[in-house]
Amino acid sequence: MLKPEDNELLCRVGPGTPMGELFRRFWIPAMVPGELPGPDCDPVRLRLLGEDLVAFRDSDGRIGVLEERCPHRRASLFYGLNEGCGLRCVYHGWKFDVDGACVDMPNERPDSDFKHKVRAKAYAAAEWGGYIWVYMGPADRKPPLPEFEWAMLPPTHRWQKKWLYNANYMQGLEGELDTCHTTFLHRLADTSTLSPGLAEAHDNWQQDGMPRLDVRDTDYGYYYSSQRDMQGGALNSGDFNWRVTQWVLPSNSIIPQPQFPISSRAYIPVDDEHTFVFGTSFNPDAPMTQKDIDFLETGLGAAPRTLPGTFIPETNKSNEFMMDRDAQRRGSATGMPGVNNQDRAIVESMGPIVDRENEYLGTSDVAVIAARRILLQLAKDLADGKEPDLPHSPALFGVRPIDVMSPLPDLDGVVSAYSDKLRLPS
Ligand code: FES
Ligand SMILES: [Fe+2]
Repeated sequence: MLKPEDNELLCRVGPGTPMGELFRRFWIPAMVPGELPGPDCDPVRLRLLGEDLVAFRDSDGRIGVLEERCPHRRASLFYGLNEGCGLRCVYHGWKFDVDGACVDMPNERPDSDFKHKVRAKAYAAAEWGGYIWVYMGPADRKPPLPEFEWAMLPPTHRWQKKWLYNANYMQGLEGELDTCHTTFLHRLADTSTLSPGLAEAHDNWQQDGMPRLDVRDTDYGYYYSSQRDMQGGALNSGDFNWRVTQWVLPSNSIIPQPQFPISSRAYIPVDDEHTFVFGTSFNPDAPMTQKDIDFLETGLGAAPRTLPGTFIPETNKSNEFMMDRDAQRRGSATGMPGVNNQDRAIVESMGPIVDRENEYLGTSDVAVIAARRILLQLAKDLADGKEPDLPHSPALFGVRPIDVMSPLPDLDGVVSAYSDKLRLPS
């Protein structure tokens, strides 16, 4: 359980909140490039960390992210005209460039220098690793872009998707850091529709619903392991299934499968009760195969399919996540199609901000507890003036998880035996 005041601290991300400030020390993925397809394209509304923004790509291809409300009389710049290297408010014609400078004020006399005194609030933006990123913190603390392994790969080696989650970011993240639920929530009678890697993972999860967890704090968050007893089966070559998952601050999970691709997901708060998820499936060694891509496009794996022209998943609360009670009776735990849909259904079912005061955490929840502890500490430290180091060490983001069969009895042995596969910072 968590005290209500700590739950508030953990979940509230608006301007001026301790956790909101912590998020504002990191570059965060915010858009996919197709949202701003070319110079002078239509502006796009964007809500991030509880702030209403408008994004545009100017005539030179530069990306601007401005506060949505015009500094003059607060009209929405979403209705503005994107032309001539700036976004022009339709109400009185004030025009702003990507840095927020007012470059034209046609309702003031030419001898007025008023436009030099006005600035729109503007945030830094960058294209990197297949996403558009935004930095919403103090300008003098702006860090380099994070060197996630997938961001450093050629685009052929990754597949990416953005979707909306109707709950607080921490709920989604806690689902990622809870390997135990895979045995239960994702149980399927028939895994033949899954990719080979995911079918193999399902087979392993089914064999032990009481995995032993071990958490190791690091400079970037932590890695944690689950150790499952394997009781047989054609796919099993050792005594234990060891899964080592990476949690990278503030809200990135990097989850292994027995085979590539790896799933990396960022949970980015839209506001306290909504989250954008940026899912990247990647193969560090080779281009994604058409088979991998075809499976991901079905929405049955790491990411949902979304309704055309939106980031809203096809399966959602309005259709009860396409639950099929007969399929449930036949052995699928939820009767819902797709691993990600099952995760999303159950996390959203907890309410927009889960009541953590009335929960009972057991030994399977130690990774969830550790993530809360670390995030709360960092947010409190920052509120006390201690800046986080991680954003300024971009190489620390480049870690990789593993999922292996091994008779080794402890995590340290696994880490050293698989040091070539499990990427940890040197
Ligand atoms: S409100 Fe935007 S120019 Fe007046
Ligand atoms: Fe899950």
